[in-house]
Amino acid sequence: MTGAEASAQARSPRFQGKVAIVTGGAMGIGREFAEILAAEGAKVLITDVTDPEPFKAADSIQFERADVRSYDDAQRVTKLAVDTLGGLHILFNNAGTPGRLPRPPAIDLSLEEWDETVDINLRGTFLWTKAALPYLIDNGGGAIVNNASMLGIVGLPDSAAYCSSKGGVVQLTKGLALELIPHGIRVNAIAASFIDTKMFNDWLDLQEDPDKARREAMAKLPIGRLGTAEEVAHAAAYLASDDASFVVGHTLFVCGGYLAQ
Ligand SMILES: NC(=O)c1ccc[n+]([C@@H]2O[C@H](COP(=O)([O-])OP(=O)(O)OC[C@H]3O[C@@H](n4cnc5c(N)ncnc54)[C@H](O)[C@@H]3O)[C@@H](O)[C@H]2O)c1
Repeated sequence: MTGAEASAQARSPRFQGKVAIVTGGAMGIGREFAEILAAEGAKVLITDVTDPEPFKAADSIQFERADVRSYDDAQRVTKLAVDTLGGLHILFNNAGTPGRLPRPPAIDLSLEEWDETVDINLRGTFLWTKAALPYLIDNGGGAIVNNASMLGIVGLPDSAAYCSSKGGVVQLTKGLALELIPHGIRVNAIAASFIDTKMFNDWLDLQEDPDKARREAMAKLPIGRLGTAEEVAHAAAYLASDDASFVVGHTLFVCGGYLAQ
């Protein structure tokens, strides 16, 4: 039994009657989040620029191709979710890019590369939030979870655009949280460390010795191992659920202890 299935069996369905949109949900953290919500009763619309493999909860998860950089896509897909799934209660702004790998130092980072990283990670988060707000406000509330990063909290050399975009997501989360709580909309974020997804493995594959790089990354985390997409998705699902009804403007560290140092 997977964690998502066990969780669904142990609890009353936390997301019964809810409709969620997940950006970048074809793989990794977004995909696991969609499976968890669907296993606990939600109807989920995932978007991505990549087609997903079939979902376990195929009856409850639908895919719509969209680019988070496009406000037209955000408006179209949000309306589609409301019209076909019966409303909108949860938005997981998850799509992200690490930028060009290996990441160049700032002096070699082109303006186009800067723009692409900030457009996807930060501006995309704003665009999809903006598109969702009229519906969430109409509902009388909802939850927005933003996928930031530990690199929105601490710095890393050769990561100017990524750190800036994720730091922006953390601050966007706080600003929007205060603005939207009168509407019953809770906005929170998660900050993950090294998570064993395609994004992290793409970086590993570029290292001279990927196995050694993996061991070194694990050693940097006090917990001594990489995180899984499912572990991060569970943290995001908590923030999206009524279990987190008093949690507002928070960035939850899902980092195996890295940010406790
Ligand atoms: N993996 C890690 O170590 C890690 C650590 C901290 C934060 N994060 C963040 O978690 C989020 C999810 O990443 P992941 O690790 O699951 O990686 P992933 O590569 O498995 O998934 C990212 C998804 O985003 C999609 N995407 C990229 N650009 C897009 C665009 N313009 N429009 C729509 N979709 C787009 C990709 O196609 C992919 O399906 C990202 O925001 C990432 O920055 C990841």
